[in-house]
Amino acid sequence: MKSKISIDLHKLSRFVNLFLPILAIIFFLAGLKLSFYYHFLTVSFLFATALNVFYLYLQNGHALLRNFGLLAQGRYMLESVGPELRQYLYASDTEEKPFNRLERAEVYRKSQNIDSASSFGSLHTFDATELKIRHSLFPTPTSELTPYSLTFGEERGIENTHTIRKPYIISAMSYGALGKNAVRALARGAKLADITMNTGEGGYPKYHLMEGCDLIFQLGTAKFGVRNKDGTLNEEKLKEIADKPTIKMIEIKLSQGAKPGKGGLLPKEKISDEIAELRGVSKEHDVVSPAFHSECKDYTSLTQFIKRVQNIANIPVGIKLCIGDLAQFENMIQEFKKQDIFPDWITIDGSEGGTGAAPRAFIDRVGMPLLPALKGANDALNEAGVRNRLKLLASGKLIGPGRQMLAFCLGADAICSARGFMLSLGCIQAIQCGSNACPVGITTHDPKLEHGLDISIKAARVRNYVNNLKHDIDELVAATGCQSINDLSFKHLYVPADSSISPHVPNN
Ligand SMILES: Cc1cc2nc3c(=O)[nH]c(=O)nc-3n(C[C@H](O)[C@H](O)[C@H](O)COP(=O)(O)O)c2cc1C
Repeated sequence: MKSKISIDLHKLSRFVNLFLPILAIIFFLAGLKLSFYYHFLTVSFLFATALNVFYLYLQNGHALLRNFGLLAQGRYMLESVGPELRQYLYASDTEEKPFNRLERAEVYRKSQNIDSASSFGSLHTFDATELKIRHSLFPTPTSELTPYSLTFGEERGIENTHTIRKPYIISAMSYGALGKNAVRALARGAKLADITMNTGEGGYPKYHLMEGCDLIFQLGTAKFGVRNKDGTLNEEKLKEIADKPTIKMIEIKLSQGAKPGKGGLLPKEKISDEIAELRGVSKEHDVVSPAFHSECKDYTSLTQFIKRVQNIANIPVGIKLCIGDLAQFENMIQEFKKQDIFPDWITIDGSEGGTGAAPRAFIDRVGMPLLPALKGANDALNEAGVRNRLKLLASGKLIGPGRQMLAFCLGADAICSARGFMLSLGCIQAIQCGSNACPVGITTHDPKLEHGLDISIKAARVRNYVNNLKHDIDELVAATGCQSINDLSFKHLYVPADSSISPHVPNN
């Protein structure tokens, strides 16, 4: 017969209710008879008794406290430390989300230049749905690989093209979502690693500009930093930013994987004088970012808006979006073709992408995941015969070389990563990005917490992370027998018969 151990909470709480005043009396008597110091315990138990009475009879906001008194408080306390207990004590190496301990550890090791070789065997499940990379019988010697190079804007024949020589871009993260030390560490790291960084939609990129790295200025739907009072585009301000020597490209953000179809909200309480100035908004009321650019109401006007920004900026201009419906993506490409106007790149952001803050339903339920979206986008461009008119970038949990290879095989020309770079700065996945209480000083403006983030040390980690990723990617490309990332294609993927690209792809 099975026995089931259960705790009768009512009995236990009655016991606690009785025991607290009894203990107070016992310690009171001990204080009188044995030692004065027992009165400290008397006071403690009297206080606990009073609190218990308050919870049970005087408050009515919390049903648990009203039913079980102080005992229930224990539950609240345990619940509040639950994430830490799980993270440090109970969760296995492959269990946590969005990134498990193994995946995070690989970034930490790469960032600290520690060998990330593993022993004994894979911890993946090797089930029938996992994508794998097809290696060749005849690998390419790594010394014979073609050096990576990707030039944005070459398709339009513009003068101010921008070339990247490593396939990584630090994905859009605004000053606001990130604190200033984190922005500066990433920007300095980008400079050291010789990669380009996206400013995010935080307005004038004051802290990004300080470190002299190559930048992509992001033009968000609220047009922070380049807006007129009515929220429309201020062309002079955009031109002023685009003319800065380290602003190499502009990205028009149409949507973001973690919250596609939704604009952001910046509560007025969070708008400091500096943030109001950088974003070009008033401190007096909340700033609501629209879900779309007011200039882009249909395919035609969207295409015209891209052209308008290209004309103003005179540097490469791309778009970022999360795909909801591939048919709409195809229509957009057809419109580009009809008007013969193309963005210089398209960033496909998967719905698994990160965010500073967004409603849970959007994070979990809206938008296509990266890999099927990327494949769909690449196929649509090829079918329309215009794949050679632009570059394709990909973002969404691309923190390790294994999954990055999958993205390259599905059509990505370069990888954008936000959380990979946050991890390289020492993010511990505390999931506090929206609360201003990030314990490692990355997504916070609290000077006491920001103090922990040493800009120079973390910048070096960003550089190490990039260089070690690049090293692994070179070895993986060589294993496929290809000469460069450009040669990778769908045929280099082993796609199990019962997989449709999307299911169960590992992060690394
Ligand atoms: C803290 C944080 C802030 C972000 N801010 C922006 C932003 O300003 N603009 C934007 O387009 N995306 C923003 N993103 C999304 C990233 O640019 C990227 O699309 C997404 O996080 C990709 O997933 P990854 O974090 O797995 O690389 C942000 C993400 C994070 C984690």
